[in-house]
Amino acid sequence: MEIQAHKKTITNFNKSNEYRAKIHHLIPGGAHTYSKGDDQFPELSPAAITHGDGCYVFDPDGNKYIECLSGLASVSLGHAYKPVVDRVVQELYKGNNFSRPAIIEMEVAERFLNLVGVHDMIKFAKNGSVVTTAAVKLARAYTGRKLVARPIEHPFFSYDDWFIGSTDVKSGIPTDIQALTVTYSADNLQSLQHLFDQYPNQIACIIAEPEKFNVLPDHYLKDAINLTHKNGALWIMDEMITGYKTAYPGSMTKYDVVPDLATWGKGIANGFSFCCLTGKKEIMDLGSIKKTGAEKLFLVSTTHGGETCSIAAAIATMDEFEKHQVVEHNQKMGQLFIDKTRALFTEHKIENNIRNMQFNWHASLGYFDNEGNNSFGLRTLFHQELIKRGILFQGIFCPNFSHQEEHVNAIVEAMNDSLPVMKKALDEGWEKYLQGEAIKPVFRKYI
Ligand SMILES: Cc1ncc(COP(=O)(O)O)c(C=O)c1O
Repeated sequence: MEIQAHKKTITNFNKSNEYRAKIHHLIPGGAHTYSKGDDQFPELSPAAITHGDGCYVFDPDGNKYIECLSGLASVSLGHAYKPVVDRVVQELYKGNNFSRPAIIEMEVAERFLNLVGVHDMIKFAKNGSVVTTAAVKLARAYTGRKLVARPIEHPFFSYDDWFIGSTDVKSGIPTDIQALTVTYSADNLQSLQHLFDQYPNQIACIIAEPEKFNVLPDHYLKDAINLTHKNGALWIMDEMITGYKTAYPGSMTKYDVVPDLATWGKGIANGFSFCCLTGKKEIMDLGSIKKTGAEKLFLVSTTHGGETCSIAAAIATMDEFEKHQVVEHNQKMGQLFIDKTRALFTEHKIENNIRNMQFNWHASLGYFDNEGNNSFGLRTLFHQELIKRGILFQGIFCPNFSHQEEHVNAIVEAMNDSLPVMKKALDEGWEKYLQGEAIKPVFRKYI
């Protein structure tokens, strides 16, 4: 395996530049999630990917990179991971979509519910946003209440109006809908209590990622779920990122808690489009068609929800997680990244400007100027320098099963080689060293 990609300096982005020039005329935003957009990357970067292999990706100019964010955290095993691809291909030869459910739907339903352990029913979808929105709809129907509550610090739950209306990007969303989502401070029981006091008997559910940014206070999840139930609301645990990363299947196992509903996606099918909502029977059953005479709730209903190739990918992914110690391996790689980068930043006396944040399953870096302010300029410059050295880094190392120690070492070495420019930029200004504009926040009111 060739690990030395970072040793060469990548300067050729000609085909990427052609792609960049054309794509915005064809696709609004230039991508199908804003997180992949040009405004999230330095100008000297690949505009698109031609293919991936393990933890490597390749751009249209033939440049090769170690990819750090693993397909926005959706690729848990590796790109084109053979056991998954083989299982998918096998299924494809049997046909991909039928006018009645595919028989494989029951297999994955039973297997995934068995894995989750505490939930009775499951509904599939192709995107995480669909299942979080479905969970919110169920909670509103079950409680007969309107308001949805979410931690203000948690960045994303859905592209649907109930969530986007609570961010700075409100265009196209009626104010009446915006007012139906309220916020509290993450991992803070007092703030949650305050919210319930402020809106008595009005909150249908809390939707939150189980762990994000901070180490949880002792017993927090249990206490928060109890408090929510005491106030007649439901707890929706969004395991989109934590699923198959913090534990197998996720943080609900790690903390031994039972949310009313849980949402899953990203790494559970190694990048294939399989997401799901799991939950308690009395809530999920509202989407049933068996209770003659009861009012019907239109739960998730999509042509492609039962697509067999993605379901096969989910099954093959479970097989691999059960055959190998994938969670342990991925966390070990993440921890190595944290330990080595922390030592590196200290050695270069830049630890106040580039800080390790978060967890070994999703290890991110924060960038700060000499006054301690968050700096998008320094962030973009560091990513530019790493991309030059063959490391496609977006501020987060989210390890997958194809990342090995050599890859972590290669990332750290590229960082070591990039730090002298960062030191100069801190003294002289990042503008002097960055080509093009700094990255901008995804959730911003104005372009
Ligand atoms: C925590 C969380 N929930 C939900 C979603 C939405 O998932 P999708 O992009 O598949 O719609 C995301 C996507 O990044 C997420 O991070």
